Amino acid sequence: MKAYHLIKNGSSKTAFELRKINLAEPTKEQVQIEVEVFGLNFADVMARLGYYKACPPLPTVIGYDVVGRIIKLGNEVKDLKIGQRVIALTRFGGYSTHVNTSCYGVVAIEEETDAATATALATQYSTAYYAAEHSMNLHKGERVLIQAAAGGVGTALVQLAKRKDCIIYGTAGSNEKLEYLKKQGVDFPINYTENDFYDFIKDKIGEKSIDAIFDSIGGNYVKKALKLLAPCGRLAMYGAAQIAGDSDKKSLIRQLKTLFGFGKYRPTQFFGNSQAIIGVNMLQVGDYKPYILKKCMTEVVDLYNRGEIKPVVSKVFDAKDLAEAHEYLQKRKSVGKLVCKW
Ligand SMILES: NC(=O)c1ccc[n+]([C@@H]2O[C@H](COP(=O)([O-])OP(=O)(O)OC[C@H]3O[C@@H](n4cnc5c(N)ncnc54)[C@H](OP(=O)(O)O)[C@@H]3O)[C@@H](O)[C@H]2O)c1
Repeated sequence: MKAYHLIKNGSSKTAFELRKINLAEPTKEQVQIEVEVFGLNFADVMARLGYYKACPPLPTVIGYDVVGRIIKLGNEVKDLKIGQRVIALTRFGGYSTHVNTSCYGVVAIEEETDAATATALATQYSTAYYAAEHSMNLHKGERVLIQAAAGGVGTALVQLAKRKDCIIYGTAGSNEKLEYLKKQGVDFPINYTENDFYDFIKDKIGEKSIDAIFDSIGGNYVKKALKLLAPCGRLAMYGAAQIAGDSDKKSLIRQLKTLFGFGKYRPTQFFGNSQAIIGVNMLQVGDYKPYILKKCMTEVVDLYNRGEIKPVVSKVFDAKDLAEAHEYLQKRKSVGKLVCKW
């Protein structure tokens, strides 16, 4: 058994080391999985750069999602079986050949399901599903703004909003990504390196015109987006990618800029306009409402099996090229999901 350990914050080239591990027996509500592939998530980049508060002290094994086979079961796990092929949300520990994780973050998949594709279902699609269905309750015909829409969670949100016949404004950072968004059915793709998303939408349909906003960038993006929010609108905040910048060095200035960029709000302004800002953090969902996490994961697997959602895999790296995969994600080259294969 072995795992890539995060040993040092900073550049991906010096951050990881492959080490042997001795995994304990799974506890009563855990399963042990032999891993085929593990996924990358932007939170992993934040953890590597030292921005992720929930990350355990180094050295540690990060990684949120795996696809593999159950090889051991805790004695209170009733809905899963040894030998089943599963997706799992691992809450760290994913960059590993074997992992123990809570049964609430594990759902069986069909034998023939492509492993890399299925990895996207565990974290990115479940996060998008929780945000779009549980928190935001998207309705048919609503106008929706999705930031970083070509990313892993972004692609999932686009597909879930399309299912509801929403009108989608989606941002991305390059013209290649814009082509991808068009193919995904985004009605108004916006290259936010060329056009300010706020000006673009204001000129087209005016302020107070968007019913649901999904933000993973944070700071002044949220402040500007709120001006576009319609009465009865909702804004889900689930990330702050802006903090990462484009450097491997941690920057207090960028952290403060992002923090102050959010601006100040009064509860009465939301009450008066019947609006809401909703925070989404799947770690908290897993810790405090594990049955909701399980429900989201089960429902995305059902949607996938029925062909209603189609995860897009950007690239499959060999696990030994983990540093390269991290760089690829941090440098904003990926569309959809990035995966490493053992
Ligand atoms: N709260 C939760 O429970 C939860 C769960 C999963 C993910 N998330 C968050 O959701 C977001 C998306 O996650 P993901 O794993 O699907 O990643 P991703 O969207 O596939 O990759 C991140 C994308 O963010 C955009 N971006 C904007 N500013 C950036 C910056 N300074 N540095 C790098 N990228 C930047 C880039 O797209 P463009 O080139 O188009 O700008 C990049 O491709 C992340 O913020 C992540 O932390 C939160």
